[in-house]
Amino acid sequence: MAEKFDIVIWGATGFTGRLVAEYLTRQYGVDGQTVRWTIAGRNPKKLDSIRLALAHINPAAANLPLLVADSQDRASLDNLVQQTKVVCSTVGPYALYGTPLVAACAEHGVDYCDLTGEVPWIRQNIDSFHEQAVQTGARIVHCCGFDSIPSDLGTLMMQEYARDKYGRFCPEIKFVLAGMRGGFSGGTAASLLNMIEGAGNERAMRRILADPFALVPDGNPTNTRVTDQMNARWDADLERWTAPFIMASINTRIVRRSNYLLGYRYGRSFQYSEATQFPRGFVGGRLAATGFSLGLGTFMGLAGFGPTRKLLEKSVLPAPGEGPDQEARDNGYFRIKLLGKLPAHDGQPAISFKGEVAGNKDPGYGETAKMVAESALCLALDDKIPQRGGILTPAASMGMHLIERLRAAGMTFAVPL
Ligand SMILES: NC(=O)c1ccc[n+]([C@@H]2O[C@H](COP(=O)([O-])OP(=O)(O)OC[C@H]3O[C@@H](n4cnc5c(N)ncnc54)[C@H](OP(=O)(O)O)[C@@H]3O)[C@@H](O)[C@H]2O)c1
Repeated sequence: MAEKFDIVIWGATGFTGRLVAEYLTRQYGVDGQTVRWTIAGRNPKKLDSIRLALAHINPAAANLPLLVADSQDRASLDNLVQQTKVVCSTVGPYALYGTPLVAACAEHGVDYCDLTGEVPWIRQNIDSFHEQAVQTGARIVHCCGFDSIPSDLGTLMMQEYARDKYGRFCPEIKFVLAGMRGGFSGGTAASLLNMIEGAGNERAMRRILADPFALVPDGNPTNTRVTDQMNARWDADLERWTAPFIMASINTRIVRRSNYLLGYRYGRSFQYSEATQFPRGFVGGRLAATGFSLGLGTFMGLAGFGPTRKLLEKSVLPAPGEGPDQEARDNGYFRIKLLGKLPAHDGQPAISFKGEVAGNKDPGYGETAKMVAESALCLALDDKIPQRGGILTPAASMGMHLIERLRAAGMTFAVPL
């Protein structure tokens, strides 16, 4: 059956979904010349009001068809996925509402991308749908936002450079967050708290969250012990103090799954780590990194305990549908530094080189809307990307083609510095 659309944004009534629809309206128009896209959600009235808002940006948006589908109504999802090449889902928490859509896409061979950062849910999808998606050719790509595109594509960029320039891949890459300004939305808070609550109730989920190779079916390919950074550390390569990076427990898993899906292209003993960078000195460096680590630990502790989690939910974190306003989004940014390390080899000395991934809007929303929209476009329109289906990652499915798209959309992917 010929699809009516290239892309359907499911969840367009939510905070992030609306930003994705605005991005497509501004950058690609609504006349279907470059891309045929539309919006979907569970509530027709709310969808209509989003369409009206889009028509303020481009009057032709008033003609966008509206598709209604609820996660609790599988037939509505089957109907939705059969009308499009790609579904871009911003309906979260994904562990609560996302599975029936992934099931529908895997069954009907329809491509999919999303913004989840929920590792246990991704693992569940690998176990349930990977083989089916391989058979049907559905390319299911999780983590197409701030988690984990800068990490996953940044690593790929560094490795491609190492191969082209030095003829081999780096056995180790380090990622450090050098700076960031941005906010949090209600959906992100709900997804994080839902995952922490699940981990409190289920031992299997705790095991998945603690496993650095949770998304690699074969597990750790070597006997080397791999752990997540939990406290402040001096990094001799960077000559900086570092603290944990809040999203490392998602991103590192995605980068390791990419390496697995790419046939261990970066090497079976490839090491990848993420951290937040602090200055060199004692007060601004060591003390600040220690304080940051303790603050993060305290937040996770409060979120892990029922009564304080409820308190955070009610009085500190934004409600579903809320998020940083336009000014905050426009004034946000992020800057990530990557360090590639190549040991001495064949008489050549050891080499290290730096790369950068950066964006000039807030990472979680302004830049994330761009990243997930460009991912959907890449899946829908770029016929040079691999056709292989499965539960994939951005690097393993779209790779350098997506980097090129994101560069053209204003993001920095630079190597060497
Ligand atoms: N990776 C990243 O960098 C990143 C960045 C931003 C967001 N996210 C993730 O994206 C997700 C959305 O965040 P958000 O802040 O945009 O959330 P939100 O504002 O609460 O929006 C949630 C959306 O899901 C829809 N929805 C809820 N239940 C549904 C159901 N049963 N069937 C169909 N639709 C349903 C809502 O529809 P109604 O409007 O009808 O309620 C709304 O459109 C979260 O999981 C968040 O963690 C990730």
